[in-house]
Amino acid sequence: MLTQLERSILAKEARLGVVGLGYVGLPVACSFAASGYDVVGIELRPERVAQINAGICPIQGHEPGLAELLAEVVAAGRLRASTDASDLGDRDVILVNVETPVDEEHVPQYHALRGALASVGRAMRRGALVIVESTIAPGTMRDVALPLLQQASGLTVNEGFFLGHCPERVMPGRLLQNLRSVSRTVGGMTPETARAMVALYRQIVAADLDPTDCLTAELVKTVENAYRDVNIAFANEVALICEAIGGDVWKVRDLVNKSPGRNMLLPGAGVGGHCIPKDPWLLVHAARGKDVPVRLVPAARAVNDGMPHHVTDMVVDALAEAGLAVAGARIAVLGYAYLENSDDTRNTPSEPLVQRLRALGAEVVVHDPHVAEYAGPLDDALRGADAVVLMVRHDAYQGLTLAPESGAGSRPVIVDARNVGLGAGAPIQRTIGRGAGVTPAAGDGA
Ligand SMILES: NC(=O)c1ccc[n+]([C@@H]2O[C@H](COP(=O)([O-])OP(=O)(O)OC[C@H]3O[C@@H](n4cnc5c(N)ncnc54)[C@H](O)[C@@H]3O)[C@@H](O)[C@H]2O)c1
Repeated sequence: MLTQLERSILAKEARLGVVGLGYVGLPVACSFAASGYDVVGIELRPERVAQINAGICPIQGHEPGLAELLAEVVAAGRLRASTDASDLGDRDVILVNVETPVDEEHVPQYHALRGALASVGRAMRRGALVIVESTIAPGTMRDVALPLLQQASGLTVNEGFFLGHCPERVMPGRLLQNLRSVSRTVGGMTPETARAMVALYRQIVAADLDPTDCLTAELVKTVENAYRDVNIAFANEVALICEAIGGDVWKVRDLVNKSPGRNMLLPGAGVGGHCIPKDPWLLVHAARGKDVPVRLVPAARAVNDGMPHHVTDMVVDALAEAGLAVAGARIAVLGYAYLENSDDTRNTPSEPLVQRLRALGAEVVVHDPHVAEYAGPLDDALRGADAVVLMVRHDAYQGLTLAPESGAGSRPVIVDARNVGLGAGAPIQRTIGRGAGVTPAAGDGA
């Protein structure tokens, strides 16, 4: 059965289904459709389904090529979206791309994953290959996906259907580019399944495809994101130390990275997005109940979660230096997406910052050119501001000056939480990781 499936994959005759048409599923569906496959996308949100079927891209922000590709594959009849999972009944390969968040206690919330797998199991035909692309805690394929699919379908894995896990490595702003150019870990329940999966991904990925087992694929994905989180936390902790003792983390980082084998990351206002704040918890979850001390990853999460609160403290201190109380101050927050030039606001560090400032009695005005809710004129946000806080490195904020004609208050306090160089020369200016009064050396900074 698998050899036949592989043949139909290579001949582009295999019919594909993608469940979940969000930041990941939509570009995946478009990429396979563009490479010649017939693709059906299943999505719970009816308005998104309608938009896609009308050839309109529901993802905003700067996403090179996606809107054009979507319009092209929909017009060519190679991609259609539906809310009805029974449309998966004739699909040879089904890719699952639903969200996998964690709750307040950092426990994975698999209602979307379970719901998607149950509907896939009920609809799929004998011989189908199901690939979970969502990021999941190590062990989830074995303990959740496999039993659920077997139960819902009445089929046995490796006989009646095939199962694998191929986690995504895309990133908003580079969805299509990463899909094509970043290598993938291709985990199959058997080596034969992994081989068929490699044949499939070869059609859209021009980088290494590393076949392996499902547990390894789950571990690789959660480890690589925990690695990033821990390294960002390190940079953030150094930034806090530098600020406290009058150092300059930006200068320190440049020089540290001249030492062989060092690659210190950039500090900042915190870590957001759907993935990095929660994937480390998926890794930690796998170790729950096991006799292994897990200390570093939770500590890194605490450091990164603390950064927006630190930025709040910077604002309060800077206002105090200007003789202003935070209560009643008008504060412009620039940037609400979690990432530069993106519209993605999930787990954005700007949210706790804004909440805290409001709780302290400030009048907060948010601006973000990529987030519809906050995309009004920048001048309106700046008008009369007592403080301006730069939270996101959007291109639109590069080179921004706060001259009086910008509309900002006459001497606004500036807090630059991303070191874009905002407010250089302003009477009261703070940059993350730079002690108060430390001026950047020539060539440092933004
Ligand atoms: N966003 C990223 O940059 C990124 C990168 C790599 C991996 N991932 C992982 O990919 C997965 C998806 O992330 P995302 O950012 O695309 O999430 P998303 O929220 O943008 O998209 C998920 C979509 O699935 C839909 N959905 C949920 N349950 C469904 C069901 N039963 N049937 C049909 N549709 C359903 C939702 O309505 C939503 O549109 C997550 O596990 C995430 O960790 C995300």
